[in-house]
Amino acid sequence: MPRNVDNFKRRIDYLRISITDWCNLRCIYCRPRGKWKKLPHDEILSYEEIIQICHIAVRLGITKIRITGGEPLLRRNIIYLCENLSRIDKLESLTITTNGVLLKHFASKLYRAGVQRLNVSLDTLNPRKYYEITGKNMFHKVWSGIEEALLVGFYPVKINVVAMRGINDNEIGELAKLTFKYPVHVRFIELMPFLDNPEEPESRFISTDEILNILRDVGTISPVSSSNVNGPATHFRFKGALGKVGLISPISHHFCPSCNRLRLTADGKLRACLFSNTETDIKTALRSGASEEELEAIFHEAILAKPEKHSLNQVCRSSVSSHRPMVAIGG
Ligand code: GTP
Ligand code: 5AD
Ligand code: SF4
Repeated sequence: MPRNVDNFKRRIDYLRISITDWCNLRCIYCRPRGKWKKLPHDEILSYEEIIQICHIAVRLGITKIRITGGEPLLRRNIIYLCENLSRIDKLESLTITTNGVLLKHFASKLYRAGVQRLNVSLDTLNPRKYYEITGKNMFHKVWSGIEEALLVGFYPVKINVVAMRGINDNEIGELAKLTFKYPVHVRFIELMPFLDNPEEPESRFISTDEILNILRDVGTISPVSSSNVNGPATHFRFKGALGKVGLISPISHHFCPSCNRLRLTADGKLRACLFSNTETDIKTALRSGASEEELEAIFHEAILAKPEKHSLNQVCRSSVSSHRPMVAIGG
């Protein structure tokens, strides 16, 4: 059996690396107010440690690496990390998920450093609502970051929209229409109940079936195949559009049976599932001089710890009791 296959015959070829738990926004669905303390500097993996883990990961069969945060562009010298990761032999894709606030400055540097694709979080086209969702007045910065990313040649730029009833549901059509004008993929994501937050009511949840119905009112839409068969999104295209629309349904049609992911947290834990607290510590072994074989064995152990599926649904929120908030996992 290849060493990147888990107990449920899923091939794990995608590693999401959170390089910082810090963020310059405070999205209402992501970041606990006041409760999350930033990790101390010496707890966080150095770039050298991350690069070493990535070499091991690629030897075991990881072919795609996505850098996440918090907000990854906040970490100093990220270009150095990207240059080193993109050079790893047999790594097929290096990508980043960012909130876009610093993207205008970084887009061309990331491109030159070998980053192939960017996903940018943007839940609204209304600057005032952007402030309500994120706590910061940064809409125009993000938008100019997206324009810059397109200009320097990133394709596609994926725009992630977390759909929330009563907040941005009235903008689903407008956001989807961006695909007529720009070569972007606009992806609507079901709200995952990650916070034990009484202010975040279940009534905010909108299923992707409902979103698809809204999209059908916008124009003629047809399913299109996705190049990344293991990705969580299903794709559609409006007749005549440059880009695609994607639907990500972690709640209503969860994609656990085809999940190909493992996560590395900023403090050096391999996390088997977004919603499971099962983590395998690789940092301690790395820092105490473990051999390559020993580190490979730890990686393999983390793959075998992957649960068959999450038990999350919007009716039973109490099943989500992560000791890490989303900001410290990176989505
Ligand atoms: P690509 O397919 O490589 O573009 O990446 P992606 O769509 O997985 O990455 P991105 O960081 O843009 O995440 C999009 C949404 O999918 C976010 O809301 C993530 O939290 C969610 N997501 C990503 N991976 C998983 C997963 O393993 N399980 C669940 N439930 N949701 C995930
Ligand atoms: N539900 C759905 N998506 C979320 N993200 C962060 N928190 C949540 C949540 N509770 C998304 C962000 C970002 C991606 C990494 O995860 O919008 O695009
Ligand atoms: Fe928002 Fe992403 Fe920052 Fe969370 S990590 S507060 S989703 S920008």
